[in-house]
Amino acid sequence: MTNPILVTGGTGDLGREVVRRLVAGGRPVRIMSRRSRPADEPNEWARCDLKTGDGLVEAVTGVSAIVHCASTLGRGDEQVTRNLVEAAKRAGGPHLVYISIVGIDVIRFFYYDEKLACEKVIEESGLPWTVLRATQFHELVARMSSAQRRLPVTIVPSGFRFQPVSTGDVADRLVALVSGPPSGRVPDMGGPEVRSARDLAEAYQRSAGRRKPIVSLWLPGKAARAFRAGGNLTPENATGAGTFEEFLSSRV
Ligand SMILES: NC(=O)c1ccc[n+]([C@@H]2O[C@H](COP(=O)([O-])OP(=O)(O)OC[C@H]3O[C@@H](n4cnc5c(N)ncnc54)[C@H](OP(=O)(O)O)[C@@H]3O)[C@@H](O)[C@H]2O)c1
Repeated sequence: MTNPILVTGGTGDLGREVVRRLVAGGRPVRIMSRRSRPADEPNEWARCDLKTGDGLVEAVTGVSAIVHCASTLGRGDEQVTRNLVEAAKRAGGPHLVYISIVGIDVIRFFYYDEKLACEKVIEESGLPWTVLRATQFHELVARMSSAQRRLPVTIVPSGFRFQPVSTGDVADRLVALVSGPPSGRVPDMGGPEVRSARDLAEAYQRSAGRRKPIVSLWLPGKAARAFRAGGNLTPENATGAGTFEEFLSSRV
């Protein structure tokens, strides 16, 4: 029996897809979560809080590799990643595969600064490492509309474009990467289409069977300017296959 692959954030949108694919490929998996193991969960489970370090030694002990998908989605990710790296080094130094975001070095925004700091922690860790940057997931783009369902209009940031990618496609890539040698920064990954925020909001409304006005809002500041310049896009790496419409129709 080979040692399990630890998936941090294995309960999240992306992590669930990574777990599903590893299991389908016959690979033993250990899911990290702050929650208790669900009664029907067949895989190994590590209850752990990466912020406090509770449960971290047990989580990393005996793993063959780590796919790091956990994120606080706010401040604190750098420390979370530092905690994981330090524990992994003490546990024998497994290959660490990290999911990051396209454009974090050109868009100045607090969450992206955290992600950039995480990449640096990993690059300088001494661990064998691989980092993949992906564009926005379909789930996130859909949430930009669904979060406004009680408003009479849908507000979209003026001039913003997205290249949304399927978490399944990103998970396929992460599974291939964790199955291979440490590769450092690998080519970025984006979805198949670059589309305006308005166009994506319209697609969401069509699939939800709703119609309400879409209002473009001009956002000030450097981060918004970098988004309008396309800093979040990677059209030359449109390697994800799943479209936004395919994602929307798979949810019903
Ligand atoms: N969303 C996007 O558009 C996008 C695009 C490119 C890259 N990414 C990156 O992909 C990764 C996954 O994103 P996602 O959207 O799948 O995230 P998500 O669905 O919000 O899931 C976040 C995960 O992090 C875990 N987590 C949060 N705080 C934790 C803590 N203190 N200790 C341990 N685990 C903790 C959660 O586990 P529990 O709640 O079970 O503890 C959950 O499984 C993130 O690193 C994100 O930056 C996201």
